[in-house]
Amino acid sequence: MEKPILNYLQIEPTTVCNYTCGFCVGRHMPQKNMTLETFTEAVGAVTGLKYISIQGEGEPLLNHDFFEMVRIVKSLHPDASISFITNGSLFSPQNIQKILVSGIDRIMVSIESANEDMFKEIRGGKLSKVKAGISSLLKERNRVELSRPVIGFASTILSTTYMNFKGVADLYMELNMDGGISYQYLQQMSSYYDIYNQDMKGQVMSNENVFDFEKMIKSDERYVKLDIDACDITNFYAALYAYKGKGCPWLEEGLYVNMNGISTGCCMIKDTMQYGFGKLTSENVLNVFEKRSRMQDQLLHGLIPPACAGCETAIAIKDAYQSNPVN
Ligand SMILES: C[S@@+](CC[C@H](N)C(=O)[O-])C[C@H]1O[C@@H](n2cnc3c(N)ncnc32)[C@H](O)[C@@H]1O
Repeated sequence: MEKPILNYLQIEPTTVCNYTCGFCVGRHMPQKNMTLETFTEAVGAVTGLKYISIQGEGEPLLNHDFFEMVRIVKSLHPDASISFITNGSLFSPQNIQKILVSGIDRIMVSIESANEDMFKEIRGGKLSKVKAGISSLLKERNRVELSRPVIGFASTILSTTYMNFKGVADLYMELNMDGGISYQYLQQMSSYYDIYNQDMKGQVMSNENVFDFEKMIKSDERYVKLDIDACDITNFYAALYAYKGKGCPWLEEGLYVNMNGISTGCCMIKDTMQYGFGKLTSENVLNVFEKRSRMQDQLLHGLIPPACAGCETAIAIKDAYQSNPVN
């Protein structure tokens, strides 16, 4: 049977984590590693991968099979760009060597604050260790004259940290990083918001906060240059959202697969019982693609599927449909 083309796959190697971020839904999920068998089944069910992000709601490097997973991707999808987001606490000398021979293209290290105490309060880990790990990884990569992986920061923007974004940018430069800085606002979709405590709910960015933050980063040449999208090497999310069609880019070109191998329409859809497309396997892949395409159709007809409630992309598609309905 011919395999369908999938351009973007985000796959969750584990939900286990050594950090305690209060905004992470992974802390409320069963703690589990994806098996190699499930991983191989999923990546082997499709063809044509351009980008794969091996990360979900846990710390990828805690799955002992992580580098074997990367090797499998390299053998099945040699042209795919491979990336992951990490908390940056596990850049041991052994992992650094494995990273450098793996062929991974991009690593994004999460950070909300460059202040040691605040970092600890938000993430439950030590910023000094993360900084030392990034330095060692870059030093070794440069010593062996590799240009990949590029190393950047992934920042979740909170109402109490956005004013100090300069600290994150300063640290990026101090460490001579080169993968750019990506940022996303603390999620408001109910799949995330419902697990926040009162304090975390208060950390969601207001419209005024967003306005101020964007004004700050768009008006300063320095931030513009550090933006991940200004980086020479394209990244998973920028490439995915460069999609110019009318529908949702995820539902057109991407899939998310959780630690059990169950696929959903995007990385923000967590309830696989209600909204899952089923396991991504060679036997089920056409069924998965059919369900994804039905969801896209719904959106294109101005209906927000329950799985997409609260998603800004879905709202924009619905608004566009309402201002110009097409049959
Ligand atoms: C879920 S983590 C998993 C990878 C790794 N454990 C880490 O901490 O980076 C991936 C990224 O999602 C972000 N993230 C997690 N929960 C979020 C939320 N509720 N809203 C916005 N971003 C979130 C994290 O800050 C991190 O940059």
